[in-house]
Amino acid sequence: MPPTTTAAQSLWLAAMPSRTYPPPAQARTFDVLVLGGGITGLTTALLLKRRGARVAVVEAGRVGAGVSGNNTAKVTALQSTVLTSIASVRGPAVADEYAARSLAAVELVAELAAGEGIECDLQRRDACTVAVQDGDLGGVEQEFEAARRAGLPVEMTATTDLPYPVAGAVRLSDQVEFHPVKYVAGLAAAVDGDGCHVFEDTRALGVTDGSPLRVETTRGTLSGDRVVVATHYPVWDRGLYFARMQAGRSYCVAGRVRGEPARAMSITTGSQTWSYRSAGELMIVLGQSHPAGARGVDESCYRAVERHLREHWEVEEVTHRWSAQDPIPYDHTPVIGTYTPGSSRMYVASGFAKWGLSGGTMAAALLAEQLAGGPGSDTFSPHRFSPRGLPQLARMNAKVGVDMVGDRLLPGGISSAAELAPGSAGVVRSGTDRTGVYRDEDGGLHAVSMRCTHLGCLVRFNAAETSWDCPCHGSRFDVDGAVLEGPAVHPLPRREPPGT
Ligand SMILES: Cc1cc2nc3c(=O)[nH]c(=O)nc-3n(C[C@H](O)[C@H](O)[C@H](O)COP(=O)(O)OP(=O)(O)OC[C@H]3O[C@@H](n4cnc5c(N)ncnc54)[C@H](O)[C@@H]3O)c2cc1C
Ligand code: FES
Repeated sequence: MPPTTTAAQSLWLAAMPSRTYPPPAQARTFDVLVLGGGITGLTTALLLKRRGARVAVVEAGRVGAGVSGNNTAKVTALQSTVLTSIASVRGPAVADEYAARSLAAVELVAELAAGEGIECDLQRRDACTVAVQDGDLGGVEQEFEAARRAGLPVEMTATTDLPYPVAGAVRLSDQVEFHPVKYVAGLAAAVDGDGCHVFEDTRALGVTDGSPLRVETTRGTLSGDRVVVATHYPVWDRGLYFARMQAGRSYCVAGRVRGEPARAMSITTGSQTWSYRSAGELMIVLGQSHPAGARGVDESCYRAVERHLREHWEVEEVTHRWSAQDPIPYDHTPVIGTYTPGSSRMYVASGFAKWGLSGGTMAAALLAEQLAGGPGSDTFSPHRFSPRGLPQLARMNAKVGVDMVGDRLLPGGISSAAELAPGSAGVVRSGTDRTGVYRDEDGGLHAVSMRCTHLGCLVRFNAAETSWDCPCHGSRFDVDGAVLEGPAVHPLPRREPPGT
């Protein structure tokens, strides 16, 4: 079945507000530089501004156009079976704290939207974690127990508003759905002004220690007494971040359906995850998750999600589709705190494991408190070690080792770019060197070095998004080498197409 809509664009980014923020015109110094204009960075900046700090947000592209604009937009403290996972690796007290802080983050989103007058289609909804098969019910009951112990007002239910039978579900009422791009745009508007700035189209390239810290950007140097790195994946590895997180990618499809869409924000457990949300007359489904940079990624990921949507709803039209990725820490808990042990100048927030609308908000609240001299929370310290997560940590790093070396041993795919059909990509090998070549639909050739500018793994072609994706830590590049997603900050060098 061919997909019924081909342009991959998120439902949320389709409504991108027109307001833009110019890059910095000159070198400036701020109390705090926040790198990254997603929900994490902008919420942090706003909370710091409210505490009287002079803040600047430095965003490589447009605010909200990162993963904050490419998700299913559920803001909830009930997150699949996350509490069970955290409790199993880090113990129940950590799960309890995570649940309480997540619930506070849901309320903070609602408060900020109301307080700043942000019109973002915010509505209260039930969140459900659903066992489809009887065999999955035990896991859902365990999550119910973990959530109840943490003080979340959950209940078990035998029915949901999904259009197929289920074995049971845990439900948490009064959670939030919103339009994430409108929300993030509202945060940016609230940050900019009164001595604070949002700078778009400004990529941070490097940071130099000193007082203040100097951040080199594509638009010159900016300085900050303190720097918060909220770039989704931390762009500089001063804390072994790359060894502790693995990016996971998922696919979303939205379609106009006949009748009432399912209004609860549900997610299934078991071997296949399906996540659901509605938006007016549209039904949104997420599925087909895989590690970022996996081999052989193509249209079939979108097709499978569209098939699932059509199987359960009468779809009049598929309107949008998008995919995105999020870093997942080996011990299931985000990393929030000082960039390096003992530092009080540089901070980081990442590792939200596809729950960063509440997680990024929670991180912002914690960082704002910590930067103001408060205690923060050691629970999320980026420098923790979770012994019970060791097997997963070992698996993740073994995978990176295999990805780093393995692809170099594979034979090159084509001998000349002339072999490529329009819309396809191939690899040309010359000694140990690899060139990735893509022929666009008009016949034009685009060739780049395949050596990821982050730490040197070989990128792979992603035919679903027409991008070169790195299997090691998830950096992504367009067919001309421009950085789409970090941690890489430098483009892939362009090449002459071989054999032309
Ligand atoms: C498919 C999918 C569905 C999801 N659904 C949900 C959901 O329903 N609920 C939920 O809670 N979470 C969900 N998430 C997770 C959530 O969207 C993210 O965790 C959250 O948006 C992360 O926000 P952020 O601000 O940290 O990152 P981003 O929004 O990506 O912001 C980081 C910003 O940093 C910028 N940047 C990067 N490098 C640099 C640099 N060098 N210099 C300057 N700027 C830079 C980027 O351009 C970007 O705008 C989902 C994730 C995925 C992948
Ligand atoms: S993202 Fe780290 S090597 Fe490519």
